[in-house]
Amino acid sequence: MGKKLYLLAAVVYLLNFSAAFAMINNISNKTISSNNYPKEECINDDIGATIILSFGFYLNTCPEAEPIIFSWVEKAVSDDPRMAASLLRLHFHDCFVNGCDASVLLDDTPDFVGEKTAAPNANSLRGFEVIDAIKADLEYVCPQTVSCADILAIAARDSVVLTGGPGWEVEMGRKDSLSGSKSAANNNIPGPNSDLPTLLSKFQNFGLTLQDMVALSGAHTMGKARCSTFISRINGTAGIAGNGPDVNLEYLQSLQQLCFSPESNASTTLAELDHMTPATFDNQYYVNLISGEGLLGSDQVLVSGEVEETRGIVEAYADDVDAFFEDFKRAMMKMGSIVQKGDGEIRRNCRAVNQVQL
Ligand SMILES: *[C@@H]1O[C@H](CO)[C@@H](O)[C@H](O)[C@H]1NC(C)=O
Ligand SMILES: *[C@@H]1O[C@H](CO)[C@@H](O)[C@H](O)[C@H]1NC(C)=O
Ligand SMILES: *[C@@H]1O[C@H](CO)[C@@H](O)[C@H](O)[C@H]1NC(C)=O
Ligand SMILES: *[C@@H]1O[C@H](CO)[C@@H](O)[C@H](O)[C@H]1NC(C)=O
Repeated sequence: MGKKLYLLAAVVYLLNFSAAFAMINNISNKTISSNNYPKEECINDDIGATIILSFGFYLNTCPEAEPIIFSWVEKAVSDDPRMAASLLRLHFHDCFVNGCDASVLLDDTPDFVGEKTAAPNANSLRGFEVIDAIKADLEYVCPQTVSCADILAIAARDSVVLTGGPGWEVEMGRKDSLSGSKSAANNNIPGPNSDLPTLLSKFQNFGLTLQDMVALSGAHTMGKARCSTFISRINGTAGIAGNGPDVNLEYLQSLQQLCFSPESNASTTLAELDHMTPATFDNQYYVNLISGEGLLGSDQVLVSGEVEETRGIVEAYADDVDAFFEDFKRAMMKMGSIVQKGDGEIRRNCRAVNQVQL
């Protein structure tokens, strides 16, 4: 990629975000501290105390960072529209394990088992090569400056923008972890068949509210899921998460046809999370939920689950896309600010911790 492309990307980017950039100078840096979160809801007392995120963090040290990331994400999404959802999910699965620290990107080694083989991630996380390409480019332009965790946060935002969703200014300054946790990935990341109280507690563990949870679930306005993740609710069995009294049998039958056809394989056959507008970031997801057409049990429980309050929020977002976009932005910034205390570094290769210099 030549400099001209970067400049072009920068211009496109700045046009897209001129409004957001205009605000930068008027937003003071925020200190992310554990005081922001109710103490008793923290599963990990280490979350938050030391890293200070800020807007425009790389403006002096690597002004090309955001345009470079944007241009790679744009190319990746144009080659494979599903990549937008995949990159968004990567950031989410990163932040829910010891904070947003790129722990999810670490490959296993003979001495280390990382998060990639955890149940929520194995055979379903995608986009690692896109992050590798971005990182290689950034290491060339400004070596060891931009963290992999920040790349994930920016790529997630750009994926939303490129599919028609809202843009927001991303706070930066995250550090990359020196380790990862497969067990935390298994325990912390919400599952496709979780009931509402379980989902809620997993978000509240990180100081995210019920409203944040409903807004972040709207990320399922794009992307796909394997039959194996929703097969338990396909037959309309009552008692399965998401199969409340308002279950949509016609929709479930269409899924049954997809997943039980002779050619299908539960581990590989995919369904759209939002079958109406699968590649667009909009509020159709919530409209679908109201008509019983949420794909995962963990989607549909937002209207048919045990907690009455979520249904009202779903209805509000279904009625008003701007309300959804506003809350989604805010919730993404909040999720992106989950950072862990402790040692970190700027990895040179997102898949491995830097070698100790002897
Ligand atoms: C910054 O924000 C404050 C409060 O919202 C506002 O009064 C002020 O005019 C803003 N300044 C600029 C330069 O936008
Ligand atoms: C925000 O933080 C960055 C990086 O630490 C610093 O360069 C900048 O001056 C800060 N801005 C404000 C308004 O404090
Ligand atoms: C669900 O439906 C499929 C296809 O009709 C059938 O093969 C399967 O046994 C059913 N599973 C349950 C749990 O009813
Ligand atoms: C389904 O796909 C998985 C993963 O590719 C494969 O291991 C398995 O053998 C396939 N099952 C069938 C019945 O083809």
